[in-house]
Amino acid sequence: MKILHFSDPHTGGGAGDWRAYFDKRIVGVFNYRFRRRFKMDLNRLAAMVEYVQANPVDVVVCTGDLTSTGQPGEFAAVKEYLRPLRDSGTPFLYVPGNHDCYVKRPSCVRAMEEMVGWLSRGSYVFSDMPLMRTVGECDFILLNSSFPSNLLCSWGKVRGRDVELVEKWCSGEKKRPRILVGHFPLQEAHPILRFRHRLYGQKKLLELLRSGAIDLSLCGHVHRPTDRLDGRGRGESIAGSICANGVASLITYDQGKDVFGLERLEFKR
Ligand SMILES: [Fe+2]
Ligand SMILES: [Fe+2]
Repeated sequence: MKILHFSDPHTGGGAGDWRAYFDKRIVGVFNYRFRRRFKMDLNRLAAMVEYVQANPVDVVVCTGDLTSTGQPGEFAAVKEYLRPLRDSGTPFLYVPGNHDCYVKRPSCVRAMEEMVGWLSRGSYVFSDMPLMRTVGECDFILLNSSFPSNLLCSWGKVRGRDVELVEKWCSGEKKRPRILVGHFPLQEAHPILRFRHRLYGQKKLLELLRSGAIDLSLCGHVHRPTDRLDGRGRGESIAGSICANGVASLITYDQGKDVFGLERLEFKR
């Protein structure tokens, strides 16, 4: 089984409406204008889409931050890049990142929710999460941990009731490997230094990963690709930013050997 995992394209743009100058979006717009747009190259996302069209996979996983400030115009722009994948019929699993849930403005929340339903071709909606879905030989647990936060923070939170559900799903007999799909890494190497950027409420999920109840955690948020995998390919894999670093992950699962493999794909055009 083949899984294409990518993350953090961070489509950006200007303020979509005048209210953006009076909420957190102004920080994101400023950040994009003066910093991010020089690093992010959407041609790399286009190259990845072309690759997947030529080399089909069983499922595409996107772990969020499609946008920079979660505005409708940014979702509309990234949609055009992803349309060929979405229309190909390949299952597409997307969880939003903190930048996709940037502010509480109803038009922005609506655009994010519409994106979830559009990419999944209506097979799940935002409010269905957390949810468990079997695709091919694996069970995928889709978890949202992104919520609007204050001006200075890009942290995430796993809600208690979501932890309970995931624990329940992981307590039964394991029929297939379980892959957790979330935006934030469960493991944080510098929890104090990165207190404004890390995930909270995830301790029990990390225990499930360490005990093997969860086989693989696929995530983004951190833009440099990073893996903490054991000899059987179990652990956590951060895809890195497709547009900043031109990387995505091709994950294979060999059911006979019960082993995951990971190959980094590079899209540098
Ligand atoms: Fe990001
Ligand atoms: Fe993020």
